[in-house]
Amino acid sequence: MEKRGSYSLLLVFCIYVLTAINAQQPDPRFLVLSIDCGAASPYNDSTLGIKWQTDKNYITTGTSVQMKEGTGLLKQLYSYRSFTSGRSKDCYTLKVNTDTTYLLRVRLFPGSGGSSSVALPVDFSVSVNSNHWFNYSAVTGKDSSEVLQESIFYSFQMEEVYLCLLKGERGAPFINSIELRILPKTSYVFSKSTLEPPKFLVLGDRLNMGAKSTDQPFRFPNDDFDRIWWPALPPKYPPYSRADGSSILSNLTFDNYDPDYPYDFTNENWPPTKTLIDAWVGSDLSFNITRERNDTNRIVGSFYFMEIRPNVNATELDSDNEVIYENIGGPDDYNSLPLFDRSEQSFDLLVPTIEENANGLINVNVSFYSGPFTKILLNGFEYYYVYEVNINATYSSDRDILESIKANFDLGDWKGDPCYPVAWDWVTCDSGSRIQTLNLTGMKLSGPIPENISSLPELTEIYLDNNNLSGIIPESLASLTKLTILALDNNQLTGDIPTQLLNMPGLKLTFSGNPGLTRGGTKVPASPAPSPAASSAPIRSSLKSDVALYRTMLLFLTIWVLVPFR
Ligand SMILES: *[C@@H]1O[C@H](CO)[C@@H](O)[C@H](O)[C@H]1NC(C)=O
Ligand SMILES: *[C@@H]1O[C@H](CO)[C@@H](O)[C@H](O)[C@H]1NC(C)=O
Ligand SMILES: *[C@@H]1O[C@H](CO)[C@@H](O)[C@H](O)[C@H]1NC(C)=O
Ligand SMILES: *[C@@H]1O[C@H](CO)[C@@H](O)[C@H](O)[C@H]1NC(C)=O
Ligand SMILES: *[C@@H]1O[C@H](CO)[C@@H](O)[C@H](O)[C@H]1NC(C)=O
Ligand SMILES: *[C@@H]1O[C@H](CO)[C@@H](O)[C@H](O)[C@H]1NC(C)=O
Ligand SMILES: *[C@@H]1O[C@H](CO)[C@@H](O)[C@H](O)[C@H]1NC(C)=O
Ligand SMILES: *[C@@H]1O[C@H](CO)[C@@H](O)[C@H](O)[C@H]1NC(C)=O
Ligand SMILES: *[C@@H]1O[C@H](CO)[C@@H](O)[C@H](O)[C@H]1NC(C)=O
Ligand SMILES: *[C@@H]1O[C@H](CO)[C@@H](O)[C@H](O)[C@H]1NC(C)=O
Ligand SMILES: *[C@@H]1O[C@H](CO)[C@@H](O)[C@H](O)[C@H]1NC(C)=O
Repeated sequence: MEKRGSYSLLLVFCIYVLTAINAQQPDPRFLVLSIDCGAASPYNDSTLGIKWQTDKNYITTGTSVQMKEGTGLLKQLYSYRSFTSGRSKDCYTLKVNTDTTYLLRVRLFPGSGGSSSVALPVDFSVSVNSNHWFNYSAVTGKDSSEVLQESIFYSFQMEEVYLCLLKGERGAPFINSIELRILPKTSYVFSKSTLEPPKFLVLGDRLNMGAKSTDQPFRFPNDDFDRIWWPALPPKYPPYSRADGSSILSNLTFDNYDPDYPYDFTNENWPPTKTLIDAWVGSDLSFNITRERNDTNRIVGSFYFMEIRPNVNATELDSDNEVIYENIGGPDDYNSLPLFDRSEQSFDLLVPTIEENANGLINVNVSFYSGPFTKILLNGFEYYYVYEVNINATYSSDRDILESIKANFDLGDWKGDPCYPVAWDWVTCDSGSRIQTLNLTGMKLSGPIPENISSLPELTEIYLDNNNLSGIIPESLASLTKLTILALDNNQLTGDIPTQLLNMPGLKLTFSGNPGLTRGGTKVPASPAPSPAASSAPIRSSLKSDVALYRTMLLFLTIWVLVPFR
């Protein structure tokens, strides 16, 4: 027999496959959350067995809009939540477990121009915690087809994930549905033994090779984890001959994931049976994919192979299968390779070559090295754009104080990180994730100025003007040594202005329009109030947190091989 990879893993998986046979009950435990944004009431999707909730427990901002239901589109697409307030960001809060791998899918559909459709043009971005995920833009009705985006992330050391819509140049951001699924912890890890550093993956495509021309995309309950598998069909993909093992294999399941089964190897993606039972057949399989994202140079892919044998044909598919798990590289092996150059890499059996041309067209080509094999069966292929998780977050004590200020003044529902990926409208942040300015001008604040604003040591500008603040001006504000602007005009502040503040070098302190305020025992001018120094001190734009560009273009490949067990 030919040399093959990892025998120990092979045996482990083989045993598993045998025990899993016939465990076919659809198991909704991985479908943690399915939200139909803007829907008026929850409902059950009887075809798929998915339970859809409304979004009211996950967000308080925005308004829900229902469109007239048409035919041919998912029910989730006929309602959406619209964010018209003009805030820098609006965030859904999703509860998650730490150290768990999740798939997150959203759909955006602005409607087809009816009265309750989204007003175009619109553009905005979507982020997950501090990670930019994707940009959305629709200018005319031509852009109004459904957009689906999927990401996979793991090892976020957080109990909440913020899915945020970040306002763009034009229009009101909107969203139609949010789906959160749990994946086995070690799936899509793409490195040999470790989940670190955490990754944020963005789906390129997930293909079912060998699908019939009449096949539709499939998902749960055919895929336990509700991944969607799209048929790889002409004209986008070549018309390769197909092998169809469904008559032999329909009662076998390779995929039903059993969390009680002890396994500890990485890169277990658990492809569904429905993907594995049909395949492209050829001696040299080649197809093109299009690069759709420029902001990372790292793409990972998983090939799913079954039955690599000489001269195999469809009727020769065997029910007695095993899996060869071959990890052909982790970051350690690949760091020094130039772009997509796979010439130094060896598979035991196959040569996948992946070449990108100047137009972002990526050619994927799988063929044999040599030897007795003449036919390959390629069952599936997935690829993802890879990002390091951006763990930047607002300095925690600053964040706590902002939370207190928010609660104290009843500022409403500001969710997500105060600074990342864009700051809340009423703060700006410095490059060290500290709060730099606080702009609460004209926010209808009443009550005293919170003492603990003075625990934001990096503050340079505070605008509290044009509110209804009462009480004294806290002396402790003088401890903010970097403060250059403190605007307190047009409030109901009382007492004497602390001399420490009046004597602070470099501080522009404005306080007119506070009838009860005195300076050295003398009343300060009541009105008309000069407007505070706002215009002279433009607030720095929010932090750039664009995902860093990766200089090294890397490709991590995982090969999954199902061969007959003899
Ligand atoms: C959905 O189905 C579950 C049972 O699986 C039931 O308890 C629930 O009431 C149903 N919800 C709706 C909105 O029909
Ligand atoms: C989104 O747009 C911004 C600016 O227009 C750009 O910097 C960023 O790379 C884009 N992100 C993606 C994922 O395309
Ligand atoms: C598959 O299962 C069905 C129902 O359990 C049974 O009727 C059929 O004979 C089985 N097919 C094969 C090929 O074993
Ligand atoms: C892939 O794209 C290249 C360049 O456009 C083209 O020559 C080749 O025929 C394409 N291959 C397939 C399988 O479509
Ligand atoms: C990728 O970059 C090229 C040139 O820099 C640009 O024309 C193209 O629009 C970019 N594509 C995406 C998806 O951002
Ligand atoms: C497929 O293989 C079987 C068994 O080797 C053989 O009898 C049959 O003729 C082959 N069919 C084709 C189309 O090659
Ligand atoms: C695929 O790669 C093999 C081996 O490098 C080569 O012989 C073959 O021509 C390639 N096929 C295509 C369609 O590019
Ligand atoms: C800030 O002060 C308020 C009341 O003075 C207090 O309730 C709150 O706990 C303080 N917040 C922090 C983070 O110390
Ligand atoms: C301003 O605050 C005082 C109490 O400090 C309250 O009586 C008054 O109604 C407030 N005015 C406005 C316009 O909110
Ligand atoms: C503070 O925010 C208000 C809007 O809420 C804006 O009009 C004003 O220009 C901002 N001030 C500064 C200094 O940016
Ligand atoms: C995180 O913040 C630092 C500055 O504090 C910045 O240099 C770095 O690029 C940021 N990381 C990401 C991924 O945005």
